[in-house]
Amino acid sequence: MQAAIVKQLGQAPSPGERPEPQPTPGRTLVRVTAASINPVDLHISSGTHPAGPPPLGHVPGVEGVGTVVAGGSLPAGTRVRVAVLGGYQDGTFAELVSAPDAACVPLPDGLDDGLAAAVGIVGVSALIALRDEAGLRPGESVLVLGATGGFGQALVHLARELGAGRVVAAGRTPARLAALADRTDGTLLLEPDAAAEEPSWFASRLERLGGPVDVVVDTLWGAYAPLALAALRSGGRYLNLGQTAGSPAPVDAALLRHGGLRLSGFSAAALPPERVVDAYREVAGIAARGALDLPLAEYPLAEVGAAWAAQGASPGAKIVLRP
Ligand SMILES: NC(=O)c1ccc[n+]([C@@H]2O[C@H](COP(=O)([O-])OP(=O)(O)OC[C@H]3O[C@@H](n4cnc5c(N)ncnc54)[C@H](OP(=O)(O)O)[C@@H]3O)[C@@H](O)[C@H]2O)c1
Repeated sequence: MQAAIVKQLGQAPSPGERPEPQPTPGRTLVRVTAASINPVDLHISSGTHPAGPPPLGHVPGVEGVGTVVAGGSLPAGTRVRVAVLGGYQDGTFAELVSAPDAACVPLPDGLDDGLAAAVGIVGVSALIALRDEAGLRPGESVLVLGATGGFGQALVHLARELGAGRVVAAGRTPARLAALADRTDGTLLLEPDAAAEEPSWFASRLERLGGPVDVVVDTLWGAYAPLALAALRSGGRYLNLGQTAGSPAPVDAALLRHGGLRLSGFSAAALPPERVVDAYREVAGIAARGALDLPLAEYPLAEVGAAWAAQGASPGAKIVLRP
């Protein structure tokens, strides 16, 4: 079968031949129709992921959708979403994948395979982050820091879906922010050199968009984190989800104490598989009725190198491979 194969850590995969996986107890053989690329795929294949370097000649891809070929309890031909330890085991960037039975979720009718693949990790992470980790309640206000990425867009859409009263999207690229305008109550353009600016710029921009918020969900961290922390209402919650703008950040202890703020972090990588399955069912239902509708950029598997490079350059869309 055709697969995307990484021959050297830190380099893009290239298309190649791989033996077909065989049915084994506890696993379902799935013919992949769409597999989305996530930042974690590049992280794993770089060899710097905390789980350690994957073997050379690995097939990446931690999620995808397709049809059941054999194995498990679902009839052959069932459309499913799968999650696998791609990179450490052969992943979804291939014509066939062997997935744990418990990680195969039937898809609702009316949901396109590409979108079903794209909303997996980002949708599950966003839903659990907002509702369960940040405790977002209907009517509350949310600031999404890093709103233009695949994950950020899912956070914006799902904040709306969960009944947020005010959603503000913050990002560094004006055209991408503009594309989010109809899902938000305002967009906040981030200055590229946040730390060098007058510290009040962030607060004054947010003031024009309704002022301090109840919840910040943050995929950026870095120089933006102290500014966004200061933009919380008294008793507000700040949830870190990523660090694309940098890992260290100075945090004002007095602000935390006197504002009664809650600062926490969350990674969906730590979720038990059954929670992912339950959340994906919900996310797929939301996507099927159009309330989570991420822009896609689709590539044939033969162009995996270009797709990989696009993901590494912050694509502003979910990249989907079509084997
Ligand atoms: N905690 C979790 O459970 C979880 C789940 C999913 C993803 N993540 C993490 O969240 C992060 C974002 O994921 P993604 O899927 O959205 O990635 P993505 O689609 O590649 O988007 C990257 C985002 O980061 C922004 N960005 C990158 N460098 C920046 C900088 N120096 N300053 C300001 N903005 C910057 C991009 O802005 P532009 O659009 O302007 O380029 C874009 O909004 C990744 O680190 C990912 O690993 C965490």
